[in-house]
Amino acid sequence: MESGKLSEDYALQLDARDPLAPFKHRFHHIDGAIYMDGNSLGLMCREAEESLMRVVEEWRTLGIGGWTQAKVPWISFAEELGRLTEPLVGAEPGEVVATGGTTINLHALVATFYNPQGERRRILADELNFPSDLYALASQIALRGGDPWEDLVLVRSRDGHTIEEDDVVEAMDQDVQLALLPSVYYRSGQLLDMERLTREAHERGITIGFDLGHSVGVVPHRLHQWGVDFAFWCNYKYVNGGPGSIGGLYVHQKHWGRRPGLAGWFGNDRSTMFDMRLEFQPAGDASAWQIGTTHILSAAPVEGSLRLINEAGIERIREKSKAITSYLIELVDGLLPEEEYGFHVVTPRDPERRGGHVGVSHPDGWRVNQALIARGVVPDFRPPNIIRLAPVPLYTSYHDVWRTVHHMKAIIDRGEHLSFSKEKPTVT
Ligand SMILES: Cc1ncc(COP(=O)(O)O)c(C=O)c1O
Repeated sequence: MESGKLSEDYALQLDARDPLAPFKHRFHHIDGAIYMDGNSLGLMCREAEESLMRVVEEWRTLGIGGWTQAKVPWISFAEELGRLTEPLVGAEPGEVVATGGTTINLHALVATFYNPQGERRRILADELNFPSDLYALASQIALRGGDPWEDLVLVRSRDGHTIEEDDVVEAMDQDVQLALLPSVYYRSGQLLDMERLTREAHERGITIGFDLGHSVGVVPHRLHQWGVDFAFWCNYKYVNGGPGSIGGLYVHQKHWGRRPGLAGWFGNDRSTMFDMRLEFQPAGDASAWQIGTTHILSAAPVEGSLRLINEAGIERIREKSKAITSYLIELVDGLLPEEEYGFHVVTPRDPERRGGHVGVSHPDGWRVNQALIARGVVPDFRPPNIIRLAPVPLYTSYHDVWRTVHHMKAIIDRGEHLSFSKEKPTVT
């Protein structure tokens, strides 16, 4: 029996004092499972289900009339979701719109903000970013006639898990025109200092954008105040908008009026959109970066889920996120000594330097991950050997975390992972 901070009683006490604990009941949970994978796909909350079902009903009863007569008229659904997202990213009115998806929005924004000229033609990124971003950046360089091997500069990691801001700043030289970095790293969960990086980029005349996929909905941002040029994200992780739900993008006010690199009629000023003029007239704000028709069915659940997040408040969500990820790390340290159990926390220990999940490596990570699933824990795995655990503030309890770490312990104590295959399926 553990005592003190490692005990089950202590976990239950933490839950009893958690102001966000009542939100757990606003979500649908998977029977018998401890869900620790909200960093990949958030659970469905009742509000998301309701807004989705409302839109389905509007389609059934209004048909095309839904574009103007629905409760949130579909023609302005993207802007309404933008308004609901502003508090999460620290944007001013008009700077956010819901549209596309992560990689698609990256393309739309980089096609606008990447302007290679003379010597200044490089894009600065890093080797730990989500590969889709790097594929997209390389293709944008090739589209402009550049050589991705030459013009895409990747900051290297010193330890394989994190990127030092100093190294990014050092790489911001005169050849760099655009920098694109994640807010939070998808494997280690490291949170970059976006404010500092934006300041340093601007001092050197570099435009800077961020992929907020792993921070939106769990980490507050001050994009407008920091002067970030652009950002984009998905809504299916901590925003709980559902699989493949519509994404979001942000364009700082100072760039409004610029012509989007990838234009389409949904980016046209609404007042003349249906005049069907031959010439594109971009909207006066971030709406201009939409391309085609809003994906209403994948946008619908995001409305309810954003309302729930705003009710809880992003600052309170962040407070719990820091506390519950710290608690998870303390339990791993206290119950699973590395020499005996082989687990190693790859996430920064300073809560200010991490997002919403904790990455734990294990030499046999893939098989341990399968053994966790067999025990009813839902984590996920990223190569080479990282198990990601996301205690999501709105629906994960401290007791869930306590139980998860005990499952990890029992798996190694009993050698349960050894009976699983080392082969990996195509989706992990
Ligand atoms: C940080 C990051 N960027 C980009 C992507 C790709 O997202 P999408 O499939 O929405 O384009 C993901 C997917 O999980 C991601 O985690």
